[in-house]
Amino acid sequence: MSKSLQAIRGMNDILPDQTPVWRYVEGKVSRLLDNYGYKQIRMPIVEFTELFKRSIGEVTDIVEKEMYTFEDRNGDSLTLRPEGTAACVRAVLEHGITGGGQVQKLWYIGPMFRHERPQKGRYRQFHQIGVEVFNLDGPDIDAELIVLTWRLWGELGIRDAVKLELNSLGTSEARARYRAALVQYLSSRLGELDEDSQRRLKSNPLRVLDTKNADTQAVLVDAPKLVDYLDEESRVHFEGLKARLDAAGIPYVINPKLVRGLDYYSKTVFEWVTDKLGAQGTVCAGGRYDGLVEQMGGKPTTGVGFAMGIERLILLVETLEQIPQELARQVDVYLCAFGEAAELAALALSERVRDQLPNLRLQINAGAGSFKSQFKKADKSGALYALILGDDELAQQVVGVKPLRGQGEQQTIAWDALAEHLATCVVQG
Ligand code: HAM
Repeated sequence: MSKSLQAIRGMNDILPDQTPVWRYVEGKVSRLLDNYGYKQIRMPIVEFTELFKRSIGEVTDIVEKEMYTFEDRNGDSLTLRPEGTAACVRAVLEHGITGGGQVQKLWYIGPMFRHERPQKGRYRQFHQIGVEVFNLDGPDIDAELIVLTWRLWGELGIRDAVKLELNSLGTSEARARYRAALVQYLSSRLGELDEDSQRRLKSNPLRVLDTKNADTQAVLVDAPKLVDYLDEESRVHFEGLKARLDAAGIPYVINPKLVRGLDYYSKTVFEWVTDKLGAQGTVCAGGRYDGLVEQMGGKPTTGVGFAMGIERLILLVETLEQIPQELARQVDVYLCAFGEAAELAALALSERVRDQLPNLRLQINAGAGSFKSQFKKADKSGALYALILGDDELAQQVVGVKPLRGQGEQQTIAWDALAEHLATCVVQG
């Protein structure tokens, strides 16, 4: 195929054999969020570039080198959203729904775009489910966010494979004091730092803590620790969070080097990581951003949230073989009809059955065909039963119900009794 007719590198089609697991995971998350009282919000995929620069930070990997930015026909600079928090903050501000201290517990789902180097678990178009909470400043809501993800990991069967890492970045004043101390220390050992860290030291010194370079890591051993600069308010907040996680029985490790790649965080930051997916092991990440709304022009409004990468979650569910068996079957019953008169009756009958059993997955044969070919299609569909409607059945107003997966003998059922019969053998089965 010529290059222009291929999908863009790092942007994937999700094919029909994959969509059941996507819908399964998305369904679990959305039901759980409903149950915890979160409401869905939907934002546009494209925003003014300025939004992301102002919120995520000019000197971050995302803004410096990963955004899909273009000029539209008006000459405005627009960007495909690289994440959801910035747009969510813009939306709540624009519509005034966090004004006067109104609490908002929101979630969103959708594609995000980052021009990263594609590899397993890292794509240029990927999908997040994110949660953002406004106007609740206590550690109780931070704990709730973690508790609900913990429950989700349990429901998806991946709890044993993920680990919670926690840190507190303190208030922006505390962080500024820490930054100054860190810069002073690292500057005194500048020659020992790798090139990237030397650059970051000037632009975004906290990100040096993130380095993968062994020499720089060695220098960091004696560096000032963020925890020693934590202000009292943040310390009490962090203790409150830890106490709640302990009470809920959720294991965690404190990672003093966890700073996150976006600038808007303060106080709590956390990541759920796994060692089962290779290099791209963070399946869910977030934290507090108490200063962001004000920084974007709103009244002081606290915020906290997280986002999980759906591709990574699915990879993990697949790696751990936690996909429920029943997802493989998309059809319960396949209706075969032979001859035009039977086809007409089959259509009417199938609609009656659908009225009575709205959850039944009934596929009606299309394109006619011989006994043999229709049965073959019925079998291939994965259905549990084939329904057979030919001239004889039509005359007697019955259907043949033929088990396809070795569950007993074929039966003849009257049209009037068909829904009831299927309810016992399929829908509840
Ligand atoms: P983030 O850490 O940039 O945070 O992304 C959150 C999650 O999205 C990651 O942990 C990962 O699972 C997934 N992810 C990120 N980049 C990629 C990629 N290129 N390919 C596949 N998956 C990816 C945020 O986006 C923040 N907005 C989270 C947040 C919400 N903080 C507060 N509220």
